[in-house]
Amino acid sequence: MSDIISQLKWRYATKKFDATAKLSEAQLDLLQEALQLSPSSFGLQPWGFVIVSDPEVRKKLSVAAWGQPQITDASQLIVLCRASVMNQSNIDSYIAAVAEQRGVTPASLTGFSQMMSGSIAGKTSTQLVEWMARQVYIALGVLLATCAVESIDACPMEGFDNAQFDQILDLPAKGLASVVICAVGKRAADDSYADLAKVRFPKEKVILTV
Ligand SMILES: Cc1cc2nc3c(=O)[nH]c(=O)nc-3n(C[C@H](O)[C@H](O)[C@H](O)COP(=O)(O)O)c2cc1C
Repeated sequence: MSDIISQLKWRYATKKFDATAKLSEAQLDLLQEALQLSPSSFGLQPWGFVIVSDPEVRKKLSVAAWGQPQITDASQLIVLCRASVMNQSNIDSYIAAVAEQRGVTPASLTGFSQMMSGSIAGKTSTQLVEWMARQVYIALGVLLATCAVESIDACPMEGFDNAQFDQILDLPAKGLASVVICAVGKRAADDSYADLAKVRFPKEKVILTV
């Protein structure tokens, strides 16, 4: 069995973290780099990732997440956010980055820029919000897979109040809105969920070949 499959079997949505176990700086750097390397549609990266360590802030966030213990007990809580808005200014920043990092002129990217502008103009603001959230979920998948490979425990979570999280973390001022969160750290030795069988539909049911 390949390492990735054995690690995907090892991982589970950790319910009880060891509150005394902290991830190393190297582990945290690696998770941040994995988030940064996540792919997105057009490469536009309409997101930001807030790493929350502060215990006082996490106490407040816990209240806005129905007291789920992962919020306060994990080593860190990562709040995966979408951009508040997506407009021509986001596209221009991205085009400037492409030009700089690939050593080409912005003028040579005019067609690409217009294609992105057209795609965005064709979406309603609700569709844009949903589209950005989908990009953020790709980053969540990359984060979970990276945690698995690195034997870092994680719990992806949607069970929180977005508006309250946004307010507590002052996200609008940062041009962000929360989408999904992920607690990371080390499982508690007595987390009973670690021993539960993984429940997945059989491959024959979910994989179709044509
Ligand atoms: C998008 C998403 C949101 C989730 N939200 C929560 C949550 O709020 N609280 C929680 O304890 N688990 C949450 N989970 C964990 C799932 O219940 C868990 O991943 C699923 O049952 C599969 O089990 P496994 O991850 O242990 O293999 C969430 C998982 C995902 C992918």
